[in-house]
Amino acid sequence: MPNAMSSIQSPLQMSISESTNLRCRISLEGRGNVIKFNNGVKRATTVSCLGVHVADSCESVGVGKSSKEVMEAEKKVLVGTYARMPAVLVSGKGCKLYDVEGREYLDMTSGIAVNALGHGDDDWVKAVVDQANLLTHVSNVYYSIPQIELAKRLVASSFADRVFFTNSGTEANEAAIKFARKFQRHSNPDAKEPATEFIAFSNCFHGRTMGALALTSKEHYRSPFEPVMPGVTFVEYGNIEATKKLIRRGKTAAVFVEPIQGEGGIYSATKEFLQFLRSTCDDAGALLVFDEVQCGLGRTGYLWAHKFYGVFPDIMTLAKPLAGGLPIGAVLVTERVASAINYGDHGTTFAGSPLVCNAAIAVLDKISKPGFLASVSMKGQYLKETLKQKLGGNPHVKEIRGLGLIIGIELDVPASPLLDACQESGLLVLTAGKGNVVRLVPPLIITEQELDHAVEILHKSFPVLDSNSN
Ligand SMILES: Cc1ncc(COP(=O)(O)O)c(C=O)c1O
Repeated sequence: MPNAMSSIQSPLQMSISESTNLRCRISLEGRGNVIKFNNGVKRATTVSCLGVHVADSCESVGVGKSSKEVMEAEKKVLVGTYARMPAVLVSGKGCKLYDVEGREYLDMTSGIAVNALGHGDDDWVKAVVDQANLLTHVSNVYYSIPQIELAKRLVASSFADRVFFTNSGTEANEAAIKFARKFQRHSNPDAKEPATEFIAFSNCFHGRTMGALALTSKEHYRSPFEPVMPGVTFVEYGNIEATKKLIRRGKTAAVFVEPIQGEGGIYSATKEFLQFLRSTCDDAGALLVFDEVQCGLGRTGYLWAHKFYGVFPDIMTLAKPLAGGLPIGAVLVTERVASAINYGDHGTTFAGSPLVCNAAIAVLDKISKPGFLASVSMKGQYLKETLKQKLGGNPHVKEIRGLGLIIGIELDVPASPLLDACQESGLLVLTAGKGNVVRLVPPLIITEQELDHAVEILHKSFPVLDSNSN
């Protein structure tokens, strides 16, 4: 592919990401037929696509500006909720991301466990473009086919009988909270006070909206916004004896648990713990909710993380990877739970749109193939073993843990200097826990060579922790 100039010959969906200088990947309906990029400057000129002038749209995302300028502009116009890493990313392909200066990064973050198929997967792009051309949004006032097709697939591939779509993980958990309360009211019509309380666990993360926030253990997230939803009790993750005392008939509406905790530090439940939760919830008439927003949909090498344990919930919440980068959430429920929900009990304007659901069908169809899941398991094992070999002996490494391609490296010091050093060397990784866990959640399509490269950069970057801990 030529460096500085590429041509669009077809009217539909031309990917020009191969160009070494061109870091702006464009899949579009070409009308102007020629895109020119000034070598070195990486500025798009002269093409109109889907009614947008490419030069304008690239300019608006910072192409042609320096990272520094973009970061300074961000400080002036955005509410300061994010302490961002200093990278202005403008394009991606597979497991590679490119910044505004054209630097290449290996992505071990997947947009926080979202881009399971990597960036710009061809089938995903086709699903989005085809559907955008056909119908994007109609609201839930009407029926739409991709929504029903996606729900059919989710039901066919899980414990669930029915699905409710949302736009994010936190909204999926909000819906699960409402469904659990409504279920208790519906199944105990004569109770003076139906069960309304919830149990959640240390290090858990369920979201940032008021109900999901109330279920999130980190006090620092909750306290500035109190009062949050009352009636939540936190107990140590995995502690059967302590939990047993808290799950009570007529009081506990539901128990929320991540089979593998992501944000909290990559901690896996034991089979015994999840089995105990299942039977105790059943005895107490409480619902068991698995939050698989981060660990679900193939990340563990199992389609659902709970399949690894052979324990099944009443409700499962999903989000991050489901639509391959478009906003989505889903609440999967049994018929027993669904029968408590009536018209008007819950709803949303955007969720379940044809566009997002068609994208999600492309993702789910790929990930749910047994060969795909087996490859995630193999790569996960390979990554963990390689990390243990290369980093296991480092005095800063306390533990390397996780399942499939959700891996945590717990350190005895804050991980942020390591993140900075990795980024300098072209590797993007995340933290988790109290900032002392390096979280690796790469696209599930990553290759062994890319995993080797990631481990190599991590290994080379580790000495930065010595200089910082002195
Ligand atoms: C387990 C879990 N639940 C819920 C959420 C909230 O999802 P969202 O950020 O899409 O609202 C997250 C986000 O990190 C998560 O990891």
